Amino acid sequence: MPETEQAYALITGANKGLGREVARQLGLRGMTVLVGARDRTRGTRAVEELRRQGTDAHFVRLDVDDEASVAAAAEHVTREFGRLDVLVNNAGIVEDDIPPSATTTALAERVYRTNVFGVIATTHALLPLLSASHAGRVVNLSSRLGSLAKAADFDTPHRLLLAYNSSKAALNSLTLHYAREFAGTPLKFNSATPGYVATDLNGHQGTRTVEEGARVVVTLATLDKDGPTGGFFDEDGPVAW
Ligand SMILES: NC(=O)c1ccc[n+]([C@@H]2O[C@H](COP(=O)([O-])OP(=O)(O)OC[C@H]3O[C@@H](n4cnc5c(N)ncnc54)[C@H](OP(=O)(O)O)[C@@H]3O)[C@@H](O)[C@H]2O)c1
Repeated sequence: MPETEQAYALITGANKGLGREVARQLGLRGMTVLVGARDRTRGTRAVEELRRQGTDAHFVRLDVDDEASVAAAAEHVTREFGRLDVLVNNAGIVEDDIPPSATTTALAERVYRTNVFGVIATTHALLPLLSASHAGRVVNLSSRLGSLAKAADFDTPHRLLLAYNSSKAALNSLTLHYAREFAGTPLKFNSATPGYVATDLNGHQGTRTVEEGARVVVTLATLDKDGPTGGFFDEDGPVAW
């Protein structure tokens, strides 16, 4: 495909928070933005907002925790648009602050279903389109809390969210495995950490704005062909795994 063709980006969980802001920033760069959201009302509201700002935005119903919904979303994108250049695996959930030893397997499973298995399902369903792009980019929304290097540094405070933190470590592992499989092709996979951003996820306790948090994601979503793959980045550069 010639590089002048319109680029398409799908962002999961794009109805609010970081996902919505990533959609806004990619729209400002001229991309057609596919707003993945599990709730039609919330998703179409975000689409309307983006359109008011001049972005070519479209709603794609997508619950990453539901394989039928993921398959239907991939079919919808294929049928309606026929291409995808960027996938931002942004949808994520976190458990309440409880000690690691109080985390039930049911809770861990719920968090993993969205933060890990949802990413696998969504990525695999969209790989045919992403592989056909001349500049396919997959960005996984990770977290510093998923850094094993940080968890292993006992001298520095670390929030002990067993399910969430380990799900983001697993997500980072996914990034590396896909990046290795697709090394030497145009398709790049990277993990991004946005910092501590004020969103519903943390009751708006975060110290950074969504505008700031989204920057690294947008940078990784729009890397040129010489950009990295298989990395873990914040907006200042590489972060320890
Ligand atoms: N905020 C931070 O400080 C921070 C730091 C590091 C990493 N992150 C990561 O950044 C990502 C976005 O977080 P955020 O802070 O923007 O949180 P948020 O405001 O709570 O937004 C989360 C989004 O994910 C969606 N979602 C959750 N489960 C889903 C599912 N099964 N299918 C589809 N969408 C689903 C939510 O949709 P509904 O509205 O339908 O619930 C919402 O749109 C997450 O992966 C998070 O782990 C955030």
